[in-house]
Amino acid sequence: MTTDHNPSRPDDSNPGDSRPGDSKAGGPPLLQVRGLVKSYGPRIILDGLDFDLHKGETLVILGRSGSGKSVTLRHLNGLEYPDRGTVHFDGTELTQLREEELYPIRRRMAMLFQSGALFDSMNVFDNIAFPIREHTDLPLEEVAEVVAAKLKLVRLSGIEQQMPSSLSGGMNKRVALARSLALDPELVLYDEPTTGLDPVTSAVIGQLILKSRETLNASAVVVTHDLPLARTVGHRLAFLDRGRFRFLGTWKEADQSEDPMLRGFLEGRPENDDDGT
Ligand SMILES: Nc1ncnc2c1ncn2[C@@H]1O[C@H](COP(=O)(O)OP(=O)(O)OP(=O)(O)O)[C@@H](O)[C@H]1O
Ligand SMILES: [Mg+2]
Repeated sequence: MTTDHNPSRPDDSNPGDSRPGDSKAGGPPLLQVRGLVKSYGPRIILDGLDFDLHKGETLVILGRSGSGKSVTLRHLNGLEYPDRGTVHFDGTELTQLREEELYPIRRRMAMLFQSGALFDSMNVFDNIAFPIREHTDLPLEEVAEVVAAKLKLVRLSGIEQQMPSSLSGGMNKRVALARSLALDPELVLYDEPTTGLDPVTSAVIGQLILKSRETLNASAVVVTHDLPLARTVGHRLAFLDRGRFRFLGTWKEADQSEDPMLRGFLEGRPENDDDGT
């Protein structure tokens, strides 16, 4: 396997602790992932994954369908436990925590699932209020203020009483985005935030991700097949292949990469099975 890791800040290395994907700029990383291994039965999905996510940074994860992108995300918030390896979030090792110990940490993170997944039986208000009610004791008026603010952020003010079934796919995604931002998370994990949306609506989602980043100063990991979105929001990108990041670096570095597999992927060309490794 080629290791084409390009730490994006080469001048900021710490020789005592240098690992692929590691970079120490801007203080300690929010997420530090080391040696993550995960198998399902005989299939190794993650095979020693390493990376850091800096505070305020958005990392895009690209890779073929089935390469383990969603599995990676689920390890970052403790929804899955690895066979080996560690995930530190703001200095706390997650892989050893019990479910109840993860609870206060999960409050600081949000995940926008691949399926979108609003609760169909609840109106928009109750959907967005759900995590607020679960994690806080705010009185109704304050919950309503937060819901209104988050709907404003996704430019859907005033639709509190509508049911998800009455909304378009793009509006559903935007409400799901509003819900994921309800508790002002420090880290947002986005799994395919634009799947199934037309290009214009996808671009709107990209703008909303940028805007929410500005407003909340949150860090993010964005899994996507949507290359325009990836370019819009990603400070760095990672290319997942056979359980590791075959590439991790800035867009500039990616565009200069001579790795045929990465180039083919970024240019949307079908690959040969012989990928040049
Ligand atoms: N809970 C599970 N049990 C068994 N196998 C699983 C489980 N979750 C994921 N897998 C397998 O792990 C592999 C990676 O899955 P994952 O969902 O992470 O892919 P992905 O990169 O997100 O793909 P896509 O782009 O299609 O969403 C797949 O082969 C999948 O079948
Ligand atoms: Mg997936």
